[in-house]
Amino acid sequence: MPEQHSEGAEAAGHGTSLIDPGHLTPGQIVEELDKYIIGQKDAKKSVAIALRNRLRRQSVVGDLRDEIMPNNIIMIGPTGVGKTEIAGRLARLARAPFVKVEASKFTEVGYVGRDVESMIRDLAEQAVAMVRSEKSEEVREKAAKHVEERLLDILIPPVGTPGASALEEQPEEQGSEALSHGDGPGDGGMEREVNRRSREKMLERLRSGRMEDRQVEIETSSEGPGGMMQIFGPMGQMEELGGFMQDLMSGMPKKRKKRKLTIAEARKLLEQEEVQKLIDMDAVVKEALRKVEESGIVFIDEIDKIAAPTSGAGGKGPDVSREGVQRDLLPIVEGSNVTTKYGAVKTDHVLFIASGAFHVARPSDLIPELQGRFPIRVELKSLTEEDFFLILTQPRNALIKQYRALLLTEGVELEFAEDAIREIARTAAKVNESVENIGARRLHTILTNLLEELMFGIPEHITESRVVIDAQRVREKLGQIAADRDLSQYIL
Ligand SMILES: Nc1ncnc2c1ncn2[C@@H]1O[C@H](COP(=O)(O)OP(=O)(O)OP(=O)(O)O)[C@@H](O)[C@H]1O
Ligand SMILES: [Mg+2]
Repeated sequence: MPEQHSEGAEAAGHGTSLIDPGHLTPGQIVEELDKYIIGQKDAKKSVAIALRNRLRRQSVVGDLRDEIMPNNIIMIGPTGVGKTEIAGRLARLARAPFVKVEASKFTEVGYVGRDVESMIRDLAEQAVAMVRSEKSEEVREKAAKHVEERLLDILIPPVGTPGASALEEQPEEQGSEALSHGDGPGDGGMEREVNRRSREKMLERLRSGRMEDRQVEIETSSEGPGGMMQIFGPMGQMEELGGFMQDLMSGMPKKRKKRKLTIAEARKLLEQEEVQKLIDMDAVVKEALRKVEESGIVFIDEIDKIAAPTSGAGGKGPDVSREGVQRDLLPIVEGSNVTTKYGAVKTDHVLFIASGAFHVARPSDLIPELQGRFPIRVELKSLTEEDFFLILTQPRNALIKQYRALLLTEGVELEFAEDAIREIARTAAKVNESVENIGARRLHTILTNLLEELMFGIPEHITESRVVIDAQRVREKLGQIAADRDLSQYIL
């Protein structure tokens, strides 16, 4: 995405901006979000400002810099109108470490306060993976060269190494003149020359890709890079154990294992190994932790579920467990040190975006300290019929584009007449109104229903290469269901 934003460079260039011109301006952020999310202008604007302000902060000099707090946001709006989508796209744009948690998860039985910190540990994990993959990209070419060398050494060992011809068993320095053999200087040199030439030929063949299926025997470390981390990573508490085990393991000599593989497979495996060797993990961790602290984004979904409604149905007063979760959240959102297996992470400048429908509870039902840490509130609007029409057609990942792509894999061209899309939008709005408003998610259920027969019939029973859906067809398929409230409750 940022590649397409070379125009961003000139936009920032003519000012005296201190901010790296590679970064998006608020306007550009909104523009990018517009490619995926219809409407919700206010929310897009708020997140764009929050993101840019973080960048601005990093350019502030002096003590003030540490005083500037992130613009934490609460997004308020009904279900299925784009809250999670906005946060997710934003993180991708920012190339920032991003985690999403459901606040309600922390109210579950067996919850211990410390668990709240797991979101920061996840964030660190994510950042390390992110930076590692960036660094891998940087060394990939070099690693590929090393791999080529290694493969070549296996196929035609260079002279002077064990496994090469018997003539060459002496160390290279002495053997090179080959005077002891009395055969003149040509002998060892000749051997070397032949070896060099056949290696060159082999290299050509390797590069041509004609050898990919040939079997070779390689020696690799038995455990893949980062294997432990992946096993233990997502399991919260186990994570520390994982880190500990890994420290133990890295102190031990790695077990080497011989394996027979095709060159294609071997190349993949060796490449991983070489990349791992070329990457400086200490530097990766350092950069990752910096990324988390300066640009991490935590998205807390369903925050309304931990707000205790003052006028709740039971009227039992604030729910202890919910308020407890809020209290546990507080230090993290306010800024504290969280221990991760990579080191301590300061959360002062992590951006928190919370979201919730706030049907029952209101943002003012959150404990005051927490409210204070989310100074920005934006409301997302309910989606209209017109929005649905646009959502179906405009976004990069629009549902209709998805279905078209799916069927194209079977050689079938799926066309929607405009009036058909209008009809779908109208039906979605109607069902949302009469049954329950689930926002844009309604479009999923409706399209699944509309296209079910098609999806089932292709390729056996439906053999046309082009299928056109018109308004008539939409009405036939959905009209009756949508008109009947009971029916649509179950089907749509
Ligand atoms: N404004 C929109 N533009 C484009 N797509 C949208 C929009 N709103 C929702 N969608 C689509 O609807 C689905 C649900 O949206 P999303 O997950 O953002 O809902 P949400 O607001 O987070 O709801 P909830 O409160 O239930 O978590 C996604 O597939 C998303 O792409
Ligand atoms: Mg959501």
